[in-house]
Parts: sequence; structure tokens; C-alpha cells
Amino acid sequence: MRTAVVITIELGEHLYTNESHTEVSLAPTALPPQGPAAQSALIERLKKHRFYHCIDLGNGVRTAGIPRLIPQQQLTLRQLRRFDFAGKRVLDIGCRDGLFSFEAERLGAAEVIGIDNCISPGAVEVLIPHLKSKVRMYEMNLLDMTPDTFGRFDIIICSGVLYHIRYPFQFVRVIRDLLTDDGTLLLETALWRVWESQPLLYCPASAESPYESSSVTFFNSRGLIASLESLGFEARFTDNLFGSRIFRTPGTTARSWAGAGVNAVQRIFPRLVSRVIGQFFVDRGVFVCRRRPGTPAEFAYWDGKHNVHN
Ligand SMILES: C[S@@+](CC[C@H](N)C(=O)[O-])C[C@H]1O[C@@H](n2cnc3c(N)ncnc32)[C@H](O)[C@@H]1O
Repeated sequence: MRTAVVITIELGEHLYTNESHTEVSLAPTALPPQGPAAQSALIERLKKHRFYHCIDLGNGVRTAGIPRLIPQQQLTLRQLRRFDFAGKRVLDIGCRDGLFSFEAERLGAAEVIGIDNCISPGAVEVLIPHLKSKVRMYEMNLLDMTPDTFGRFDIIICSGVLYHIRYPFQFVRVIRDLLTDDGTLLLETALWRVWESQPLLYCPASAESPYESSSVTFFNSRGLIASLESLGFEARFTDNLFGSRIFRTPGTTARSWAGAGVNAVQRIFPRLVSRVIGQFFVDRGVFVCRRRPGTPAEFAYWDGKHNVHN
């Protein structure tokens, strides 16, 4: 953690503050110092947009984003910073304002493409030019992508997206097809961490979602690993949000710590927690998944015609 003074802009719930502020720096940039006029011009351009990510733009300015999401974004960043990006082609799925795309670029990626089915105009019009970034962003649904769209990628980042997807297996299958043979997927998603002795998927109707209505896919970690493995990955659960590390994660509040308590109780008494809070408690997890060489035998059965009944 480091301390920074952040310049003020008010923009609905997305605030820039001028308080001395414990900066949970997300993508520290090494931009040259800017004069006050250039800084004011940048702030004016930022004011025209809403941001989701809190991105450090240097010189004490950052996008306001939604600060309560910082701890879960830290999960992805922590893992990302362990990767060797040098010379790699990277795809960031559901890139929003580009926090992870810019970080991959900063860590040495040769090429970064971000896709989102609702592109962030603020990222395209302000952040990319300001950061002099070569990240390319496209408004696109992952399910429409094939290796012919932009080629294959060495590293794919998919953070905060899978639980929004109604066709999760197809989604993972598309990701697999977009990876190089020895490519790696960094997958962060919401988790339902109960009954881990069984591989489970909770797939509520929108109205029953424990998040908001577009969140409809909650694996438990065993279920997600089993699914990833059967779709041709070697998957490792590396970190979760509401575990003991929460006490050392920047941006956490007393509410997050209470969440860690509820999460721990839920793992032992899932029914008790859902009765008390009216739904299950959602954790987040990060998985590092290496594409296994070859094609899983099941694909022949799932994808084609077969002759097993005759
Ligand atoms: C919760 S935000 C997560 C943003 C960012 N990846 C993060 O972790 O901070 C999910 C993003 O995924 C995008 N998204 C959802 N489904 C998608 C799809 N099928 N293809 C591409 N983007 C998608 C949404 O538009 C949204 O911007």
C-alpha cells in the first residue's frame, strides 16, 4: 500500500477524492510528470465517462471506479503478476476499463487485445491515449470469437465474467480453442464454496441470483476444476477472496472481514447460512489453467455423431 493524493471530481457514485488517501494502486504507471493544465484537461476528459476499474493514471490521478471491488480485483492482479508476460500475446475477456490489459502490457506482453460485449468508451477515448498504450479493445462477445478472429493467444485472462455466462461449458470450450497449445488461462470467478466433496454447479434463474440478475453460474471449486479438466485444462485453484489473506488485501473493510467469517461458517454449515441470510454467501476464486495437449476424447462424443448405441 502507498499513500497518494488524488484529485477531486464528482461523478455520481464514481468519485475522485482529494483526501489524502490510502492508495490501493492497481496499475502503477511510470508516466512522465504532467503540468497542471494537462492534468486538468485529463480530468475534464475523465469526467465524461463512468469507470468500473480504479486505474492509476500517474501524477496523483486515478479513475474513480468502484472502490468496493478493489479487493476482488487484487486477487486477479496478484496472480497476474506471477506470470511471465514477456513477448506473449494476451486476450483479456470482459476487459471493461482495461485494468488487467494495461497490467499485462506493463508486464511486457507483446500484444494485448481486450474484448467486452459492452465496450468502455472511457478506456478507448481517454485511458488508452493517455497511457500511450498499444492495447486494442473491441466490442465483441467471446462466444462469437474463433481462432480466425485474432489468432490464438499465449495467455487469456478471464476475470469476473464466467458467473455471468449462461453457457459456461461452451464459453470455456471457446477459450480453449483460442489458446495456443501450451497456453494458460487465468480464470477468476464467483464461487459457491459448499459441499466440496462433490463437483457442483448452482445455476439459478435470474430472479434467484445471489448477486444481480445477470449472474447465473456459480460452481463450487471442485465443480469448476472438474469441468475445466474435462474440457482439456489442467486447473489449479490458487487463491480465494474471503480466506485468511483478506486481512492483508488492500482495500478491504470490516465488511470484508465479516464476509470471511460467514464464508468459513458456510463451508461447515451451508444450510444454516442460507437460512440466516436468505441465500448462499458468494466467495471469489482464481484458477490457473494450463491447456493440456491433444483433444479430450469426450469431444468426439459431445461434438459429433457417434456410433456407441449400435
Ligand atoms: C463484472 S465485469 C468484470 C470486469 C473485469 N474483467 C474485472 O474483473 O474487473 C464483467 C464484464 O464482462 C463483460 N462480458 C460479459 N459477458 C461477456 C461475453 N460473453 N463476452 C465478452 N464480454 C462479456 C461485461 O460486459 C462486463 O464488462
